Amino acid sequence: MLEKIIILDFGSQYTQLIARRVRELNVYCEIHPFNKIPELSTDVKGIILSGSPYSVRQEDAPQVDLGQFTNYPTLAVCYGAQYIAQHSGGEVQPSSTREYGRANLNFVATDNKLLKNIALDSQVWMSHGDTITKVPEHFELIASTDSVKVAAYQVKGSETYGIQFHPEVTHSIDGKQLLENFLVDICGCKQEWTPYAFVETTIAELKAQLGDDKVVLGLSGGVDSSVAAVLLHKAIGANLHCIFVDNGLLRKDEYAAVLEQYKHLGLNIKGVDAKERFLSQLAGVTDPELKRKAIGRVFIEVFDTEAHLVEDVKWLAQGTIYPDIIESVSVNGGPSATIKSHHNVGGLPDFMKLKVVEPLKTLFKDEVRRVGTSLGLEHFIIGRHPFPGPGLAIRILGEVTAEKVAILQEADAIYINNLKEAGLYDKVWQAGAIFLPVQSVGVMGDERTYENAIALRAVESVDGMTADWCHLPYPVLAKISNEIINKVKGINRVVYDISSKPPATIEWE
Ligand code: XMP
Repeated sequence: MLEKIIILDFGSQYTQLIARRVRELNVYCEIHPFNKIPELSTDVKGIILSGSPYSVRQEDAPQVDLGQFTNYPTLAVCYGAQYIAQHSGGEVQPSSTREYGRANLNFVATDNKLLKNIALDSQVWMSHGDTITKVPEHFELIASTDSVKVAAYQVKGSETYGIQFHPEVTHSIDGKQLLENFLVDICGCKQEWTPYAFVETTIAELKAQLGDDKVVLGLSGGVDSSVAAVLLHKAIGANLHCIFVDNGLLRKDEYAAVLEQYKHLGLNIKGVDAKERFLSQLAGVTDPELKRKAIGRVFIEVFDTEAHLVEDVKWLAQGTIYPDIIESVSVNGGPSATIKSHHNVGGLPDFMKLKVVEPLKTLFKDEVRRVGTSLGLEHFIIGRHPFPGPGLAIRILGEVTAEKVAILQEADAIYINNLKEAGLYDKVWQAGAIFLPVQSVGVMGDERTYENAIALRAVESVDGMTADWCHLPYPVLAKISNEIINKVKGINRVVYDISSKPPATIEWE
C-alpha cells in the first residue's frame, strides 16, 4: 500500500514547493484544492494545510471542515495555522510589524517532536500580512521569533501543529528537518517513495492496465515523452508503437540523432518525414499563435494517419507530468478551481477515440529525470534543454521558410556546441538562437553586407514559469558571435538577449 500525504491547497504560491520538499524526503504526496478534498483512505498518513493569499478574516476566505482531519496528524502552514487558531477560539489580526522575510527563532521547545534537532536561533522565512495574536488555552506555544510570538504551536493532546513560517522555502534553514520530523516521527511515513520504487510499481500497474493491448505514443525527443516511452516499453514491449514526426523544425541533425538513440534503446519506433507538409502549411503565416495552431493541426493529422496504421490500437500514451494537471486554486476567482492549461496537454482529437494512459502524471520534472536515470536513459536524453513543440517556427520571427530554418539551425548548432564545449550547457536551463527579421548593414572584407541578425537567449529557471537571463562569460559570447558571423551565410550581426521573465517570455514568439 502506497502511503501518502495530502496537501490542501489554499492558493499559496508555495504549495507546489511543499509537495516537492515532501517528495524529496521520499514520501509520496498529492495536492488537492481545499474545496475538493478526496475521501481520506487508510493509506493517508497525514495532512498539510498550505498558505494562502487570502486573510482568514476575509468573508470569502477559503473554508474547510477541520473535523475531517481529527484522526490524522496535521501540519498547518501560515494561512492553515491561522485558520485552525481562529476556528479554535484564538485571534488573528493584521500584523503590526512587517512579517516578511528572514527571522530567527528565539524560543524553541526542543523536546517537541516537530522541532527535534532544530536549533535556537534557527533562521526561518516569514511571509504573512496577518498574525496569530492569541491562541486558545489548549494550544501550546512551541516556537517564537522576536516579532512573532506564535511562530509555531501544537494543539495539546493531538498531533495537530501550526507554523507561521514557511519550512518549504530554502531560507528556512531547518525547514527540511522540520518536514522530516513531521513526516517520519509524527506521521510514521517510511520514506519508501524512490525512483526505483516508482518504476517497479508503475511497470506492474501498466502491465495490469494494458494487458495485451496496443498503445501509440508520439515521441518528441524531449525528456517526458522519452521517459514515458521507456517505462511503457519495459511494461508491454513491442505493443508500444512509438511515432517520431520530423516536422522540419527541429535543431540541426536532431531528428537523426534522436531517432538513432531511440532505436538503440530497443523501442519499436517509426520515424515519419513530414517536413514538407509542415512547411507548406506555414507559408505566409506570421502570427505566432497561428503558427502554433497550424503546427498542432498538421501534427495531429500526421499522427492520426500513422496511429491508424497500427492495427487494433486501443491506447494513446502521453508524457503528461504532475504540474500539467494539478488543479490550481484560482486566487482572484474565489473557490472555483481551474485546470492549468499547458502547451503539451489537450492535444488529443476526439475522433481518435483512444483511451489515454499517462504514466508520469504523478511526477514533477526533477523526478521524471531521476526516474529516467534509474531506467538507464543517457544524459543525451535526460539532460536536454526544454524545446518547444512548435520548434524553430517560433524562433523565426515572421514567416518561416526552409532557407531561414537552415540558417537558424546552423547558428543554433554553433551556439549550443560552444555552450557544451565551455561546460555551460548543463548549467543553463534553456538556450537557443532566434532568427530576427531585421536586416542591418555590415562589412565583410571589402564588401558591404545587408543581412539578418541572430539573437542568443540563455536563461536560468526552475520550471519555466519565471526565468532570469544567464550571465554568460564574455569570452564565450565573443567566440560564438565570431563563429556565427564567419560561418553562417546570411547573418552579419549577433545580439544577446538580456531580458528576464516576466516581463519578457523565454521564447520570442
Ligand atoms: P515562454 O516563452 O512562455 O516559455 O516563457 C516557457 C517554456 O515553455 C516553452 N514553450 C512551449 N512549449 N509548445 C511547447 O511545447 C509551445 O507552444 C511553447 N511555447 C513556449 C518554452 O520553450 C519554455 O521552455
